[in-house]
Amino acid sequence: MKGKHWYQEDLIATQYDAKRFSKGGSLINSHEKQIVTNFLDSIDGKTILDLACGTARFSLMLADFGADVVALDISKSMINIGKNKADPSPHSGDLTFFHADAGNLPFDDSSFDIVLAMRFFHLTPIPMYFFLEMHRVAREKIIFDTFNKYSARSFYNWLLPMGSTLHSRSYISQLLSSIDATIENSHHDFIFPYGVYRNLPTFLAKPIRSIDSSVVSTSLGQRISTVSYWSISL
Ligand SMILES: C[S@@+](CC[C@H](N)C(=O)[O-])C[C@H]1O[C@@H](n2cnc3c(N)ncnc32)[C@H](O)[C@@H]1O
Repeated sequence: MKGKHWYQEDLIATQYDAKRFSKGGSLINSHEKQIVTNFLDSIDGKTILDLACGTARFSLMLADFGADVVALDISKSMINIGKNKADPSPHSGDLTFFHADAGNLPFDDSSFDIVLAMRFFHLTPIPMYFFLEMHRVAREKIIFDTFNKYSARSFYNWLLPMGSTLHSRSYISQLLSSIDATIENSHHDFIFPYGVYRNLPTFLAKPIRSIDSSVVSTSLGQRISTVSYWSISL
């Protein structure tokens, strides 16, 4: 699993937020946060595990909403950036960082109301292993995203240095059939590669996003969308 090692580097961690979520990338960040928020009902006082939390993009948002969040990652460098972002501002809920492997979680069964893993499953060709571990520690809900096999990403996916696996929707069905759970909500989005957004200033990325949204709202667009977001009810 190349991505497990890629994000250990201090330089990669330091550049993570700026490379992905500045300029037009800020539209992706706000959109993803909105999706996760839409998937959650009331989260005040809920316990949430943010698995592969990276620089704590979602952990901070959820703690600000009043959840008690455990932010876990295998990279100390990524966690340190997250801690630095968390330190200056008080949150309504608790936020605790944990350095551990998502494949071997140091928590009892059913420890969390919600388990979230964003931008993680593409880092492994075998998400099943991690999915079962997420299921073990979750009580109510599991939220994650996947990059899709039949999408524009397949043209450049092989170039990505952190390693990236695309998953088909039938694979998601396989994951679900391994546990007693149903898809509560899903959202399929983005036709244009993320790189297009990241390399444009926000004012130019906005019209691209409008075109993207129109295309992805068609039935063909839904089938060739790059990212799928999944909310699984247990
Ligand atoms: C693309 S980043 C996503 C970070 C964050 N979830 C987000 O959406 O911004 C992927 C993260 O997965 C972490 N990771 C990779 N393999 C892991 C593993 N086996 N256990 C825990 N974290 C892992 C990496 O260290 C990295 O921080």
